[in-house]
Amino acid sequence: MNRTEIINTLIKKNNYKRYLEIGVNTPAQPGYSHTSIQVETKHGVDPNVDTNFRMTSDDFFAQNKERYDIVFVDGLHTFEQAYKDIINALTCLSENGTIVVHDCNPRREITQRAVRASSVWHGDVWKAILKLRMENPNVTVYTIDADEGCAIIQKGNQSLYAPNSADPYTYYYFKKHKKDILDLISVKTFKEKMGLPVSWFEKIF
Ligand SMILES: C[S@@+](CC[C@H](N)C(=O)[O-])C[C@H]1O[C@@H](n2cnc3c(N)ncnc32)[C@H](O)[C@@H]1O
Repeated sequence: MNRTEIINTLIKKNNYKRYLEIGVNTPAQPGYSHTSIQVETKHGVDPNVDTNFRMTSDDFFAQNKERYDIVFVDGLHTFEQAYKDIINALTCLSENGTIVVHDCNPRREITQRAVRASSVWHGDVWKAILKLRMENPNVTVYTIDADEGCAIIQKGNQSLYAPNSADPYTYYYFKKHKKDILDLISVKTFKEKMGLPVSWFEKIF
C-alpha cells in the first residue's frame, strides 16, 4: 500500500469530503499523489509549485478559516516544521478527522538528518511523532509500516509515551524503540482496521 492508497482508504471509509495537502510537489515527481486523491474538495499548499495556495504552510495556517476532514502533512521535512504543521492541522481538523504524516519511519541514519545529506530524505519528521506521543494526551497515534512510514493522527486519548532515556531524540534511541514510539503496525493490520480484505500473501508474511 502506498500513501495515496492509504489516504483514499481513509476518505472512503469515513466518507470524508474535504482534503488538504501540505507539500504538493509537481506531477513530474515520481509517486506524485495529489491528482490521484479521490475526494470532493481538494486543496494544496506549497510555496514552490502552482497549486491552490502557493505559500508556506505557516502562511497558509495563519490565514486559514476552513475546516478539513483529512490533512496530509508532507511539506518541509524538519522536526520543528512537521510538528508545527501537525499542531496547526489539528486546529482546523473536523472532530472525526485524520492527519496523515509522511516519512515517519527512516531506516538509515543518513536519511533522517535535519539537513539533507542523501538523495532520499525523510528528515527528522519522526521526532514530531515522538514529541506528540510524549506530550499530547488528546490525540491517538499509530504508524503504518508502508511508504516510508505513514503516521495516522486523530483526536482522542492516548497514554503518553515515557522514554527510558534522558535524550530520546537520537536516532540510536529511535531505532531501538521505534515500534513503541510510532506504534508501528503492518499494512495487514491497517487493512483489518479498515475492514478491507487481506490477501493470502499478507496473511502468511
Ligand atoms: C516530498 S514533497 C511532497 C510530495 C507530495 N506530497 C506527494 O505525495 O507526491 C515536499 C514538498 O513540500 C514543499 N515544501 C517545502 N517547504 C514547505 C513549506 N514550508 N510549506 C509547505 N510546503 C513546503 C516542497 O516545495 C515540496 O514540493
